[in-house]
Amino acid sequence: MSDTPRLDRRPEWTALADHRAQRQERLRDLFATDPGRAQRYVVRVGDLRIDYSKHLITDETLALLRELASATDVFGLRDAMFHGKKINITEDRAVLHTALRAPAGAVVEVDGQNVVPGVHAVLDRMSAFAGRVRSGEWTGHTGRRIRNVVNIGIGGSDLGPAMAYEALRAYTDRELTFRFVSNVDGADLHEALRDLDPAETLFVVASKTFTTIETITNATSARSWLLDGLGGEEKAVAKHFVALSTNAGKVAGFGIDTANMFEFWDWVGGRYSFDSAIGLSLMIAIGPERFRELLDGFRIVDDHFRTAPAESNAPLLMGLLGVWYGNFFDAQSHAVLPYSHYLSKFTAYLQQLDMESNGKSVDREGRPVRWQTGPVVWGTPGTNGQHAYYQLIHQGTKIVPADLIGFARPVGELSDELKAQHDLLTANLFAQGQALAFGKTAEEVRAEGVPEEQVAHRTFQGDHPTTTILAPELTPSVLGQLIALYEHKVFVQGAVWDIDSFDQWGVELGKVLAKRVEPALTEGAEVPGLDPSTASLVAAYRELRKQ
Ligand code: F6P
Repeated sequence: MSDTPRLDRRPEWTALADHRAQRQERLRDLFATDPGRAQRYVVRVGDLRIDYSKHLITDETLALLRELASATDVFGLRDAMFHGKKINITEDRAVLHTALRAPAGAVVEVDGQNVVPGVHAVLDRMSAFAGRVRSGEWTGHTGRRIRNVVNIGIGGSDLGPAMAYEALRAYTDRELTFRFVSNVDGADLHEALRDLDPAETLFVVASKTFTTIETITNATSARSWLLDGLGGEEKAVAKHFVALSTNAGKVAGFGIDTANMFEFWDWVGGRYSFDSAIGLSLMIAIGPERFRELLDGFRIVDDHFRTAPAESNAPLLMGLLGVWYGNFFDAQSHAVLPYSHYLSKFTAYLQQLDMESNGKSVDREGRPVRWQTGPVVWGTPGTNGQHAYYQLIHQGTKIVPADLIGFARPVGELSDELKAQHDLLTANLFAQGQALAFGKTAEEVRAEGVPEEQVAHRTFQGDHPTTTILAPELTPSVLGQLIALYEHKVFVQGAVWDIDSFDQWGVELGKVLAKRVEPALTEGAEVPGLDPSTASLVAAYRELRKQ
């Protein structure tokens, strides 16, 4: 056991708690007394302009938060991560997704071995393969060119490429069809395949472990569909299946030629893997050059996080703001609200990144934490949310810190009329940030002539904190920058909370129990030790299935 004080016993923590208890400023007052905060509380990284002026903070708050970061040695852990130290302690692994975007020629060692040449060798193989599929040179078993790509994977082997495919649709080859199948519900694969021709379909089976039951089950069914459609010749599999994995043995065991496997390594966590071989479907969609631009974007933020001083370090600031609300305002959730239709899956992607990383309740030494850890992350594109759940954020009883993400220019080949809608979209973003921060006082409502009995209902309290992230345009590089920003934000919070952000034991129990329960459903087998509630559900299910 270390003898450093636990987080909630540190003087820096207590100082923040005191600061919170003493100060109850309203955002209106903070801006009235210090209008300069609108310029001062902006940090730039790459193409991102991150405005954190609408937060319930002062210079003193920020100084105290930085002291907490310093006391918890966030930058020390950061350096250990970038240098390949095994900071994933429960799995005894390095955490090196940053090496996936390191430039050729960089040296990043794990166990004395430079991993960068291997990263670039796989990228080169991916580029060559993607090029062949895109040009039509890679053909299916019958000699027809590939027109459909179906990615089969789940969690980190699905969310990243599926999200980025949507985000970068404007850059994709529109001649090709892409589908992403993750759910073990047969309906997912059925709907993905029902209008596809097997002779023109390539399956990309993405699984770090190649043991994940959902993925292996769907891949097995996909293989049957393919063989049924192509006359049952086993050798067709080689032209229609490729694998993305760390586990060559399992890939070969499944029947995929390891010559068609693109590898990555155990130092890439599933939720941090989409810029590894896991991005192959995306690379086929947008092309190798655009994929490299995406990696360049990640690298811009990596370099910033590694070198920027605490005062202007964007991931550090965003992470600390989350700590401020989660631990000192008791905020339970964090909303991410993109004002871009193309980012419709961005928040779902962040849910795994954040909640699988920081959904922990013991510290790095295994002791129960006595402080809140990761928030519930949620949200959908902003304009749609405005007509659904924003009411609760504006006038409900909870504090929901939010990130509003917008772009100065639309992407894609929109007509002039549709392009013109972009200003309206952005006006909504700015208006929401304004309304959330400053609200509307009872006096303002009365001045509008609202009858007295309605004044309370129409008053907006304000003081709902938001960060506004603005970029010129949603390019591959900007997407990489955004993702790296959130990756490192999550890292900062895990470091402060003293938790292992890189394991995910919490998903194991359900997996083990599913394997035990399944025979009871299919074969009616006795499952020893099944609790009465689940046993009764099993019985009801079997009964209903007969009807
Ligand atoms: O959900 C648990 C998990 O282990 C994730 O961390 C991972 O991204 C996902 O399952 C898929 O795992 P794999 O890539 O090994 O199939």
